[in-house]
Amino acid sequence: MEFFSEISAVQNIIYIISSILFITGIKMLGKEDTAVKGNFLSAFAMFIAVAITVVSVIDPLILLIGIALGAIIGSSIALKVKMTSIPEMVALFNGFGGLATFLIAWSEFNSIPDSLFQHILIVITVFIGGVTFTGSLIAYGKLSEKIKIAKTSIITKIFTTVFYTSLIFLIYSIVQPVMPILDFDFFTVLLVLTLLAGIGFVLPIGGGDMPVVISLLNSLSGIAAAFAGLLLLNNVLIVAGSLVGASGLILTIIMAKAMNRSITNILFVGYASSSTSTSSEEQGEVSPISVGDAYLILESASSVLIVPGYGMAVAQAQHVVRELGELLEANGTEVKYGIHPVAGRMPGHMNVLLAEANVPYDVLAEPDDVNPTMDAVDVAVVIGANDVVNPSATEEPGSPIYGMPIIEVHNAKTVFVLKRSMSSGFAGVQNPLFFKQNTRMLFGDAKESIGGLVSEFKE
Ligand code: TAP
Repeated sequence: MEFFSEISAVQNIIYIISSILFITGIKMLGKEDTAVKGNFLSAFAMFIAVAITVVSVIDPLILLIGIALGAIIGSSIALKVKMTSIPEMVALFNGFGGLATFLIAWSEFNSIPDSLFQHILIVITVFIGGVTFTGSLIAYGKLSEKIKIAKTSIITKIFTTVFYTSLIFLIYSIVQPVMPILDFDFFTVLLVLTLLAGIGFVLPIGGGDMPVVISLLNSLSGIAAAFAGLLLLNNVLIVAGSLVGASGLILTIIMAKAMNRSITNILFVGYASSSTSTSSEEQGEVSPISVGDAYLILESASSVLIVPGYGMAVAQAQHVVRELGELLEANGTEVKYGIHPVAGRMPGHMNVLLAEANVPYDVLAEPDDVNPTMDAVDVAVVIGANDVVNPSATEEPGSPIYGMPIIEVHNAKTVFVLKRSMSSGFAGVQNPLFFKQNTRMLFGDAKESIGGLVSEFKE
């Protein structure tokens, strides 16, 4: 193959080195003390892979202009974005990865594929890239709450039908060179159907399932890049794409397990499809508590479980939370943090925030570790978490979040819920926890409330 000879030996050696660095970098991300170095190592690997690609092309100017434009746009968005909007940004970046591979495959089709294998690669790359692009745009819209189309609406049904039609057309497009059944411009139809299919793929998926969908789209963008690498015979693109594809898929499976769902159920059935209750109405009287009274109870508690959620990220309360944890420990209280895998808006959101505030990893526990001993906890302090502590998920079969494992704080002796109002969380459902006998609502911004408790302890 002529193409292989064009890739210089030096370039390939650099590609192999960067692939090894990518794999080492990802491995280092697995431990908190090596994670930062692992990140730098992977970024360096990407830098040398891009640099050798630029120097190896005949006219690098166009590449450099593209890189400069991408760097300016990407970094200005990333610098401005709020920590709480990172998941939306990740969804958009996944989408643009998909668009890049979609365009690469399209241009390869225009340069006329010379084998059936290449033709199949082009069709599959266009499909995965296109679905990733428009699917990610819809995921962005749903996460940022700009798109609020019900899964039962006629628009969703039309797009879902287009998605299934596109799958049939994909098969036709693959066999088209050997079995030209219909005589029309199949490729243009494939391009259009693919873009519409991405909308139909993500639109019916419920809000509560978005974490799984984002990591699946991330995986798809990697798979599309690996296919584009095969098309361009670019080794580092194949390796990097496969790494993203495989790690995204592993994360997808972990997230789905954390929500007690199978991937097929998420993609093709949706949360509690027979759902009868999506109520966000209030269900009785709540018992508010003041910072001063909350302090008195905490001061005499011998075990405290802190359960952070999205509200802690919004309030940027992680530093005062760490301070409160330290003051409680100094007071002789056993302190643990209950971390739900989908708390917040991105995988590992709470871990990242607490690591930033230097909360030691050994006090973080998963739902399976804290739930069995919950009745021995004196006070569970819920900081801006809502869906991940909602007992409807285990007790109310009609609830839209029924089936999702939760941190069962309602079984603790006393529960403090820190939030600003009675409004619902991401899934849009009311939380019976707030109305339970052992729950006290500490209304206000989480940072201010925790700050108040810290001041009480210090006095
Ligand atoms: P949510 O259920 O979204 O609840 C967050 C709560 O924080 C809200 O009820 C809000 O109530 C409160 N809040 C907001 N700002 C606050 C502030 N400044 N101070 C105090 N409280 C504040 O959060 P969660 O329990 O972490 O659950 C996460 C949800 O997001 C799940 O449904 C999950 O499926 C979904 N999701 C997760 C991800 C990932 S990967 N983690 C991605 C996408 C979606 P007030 O407005 O009354 O204060």
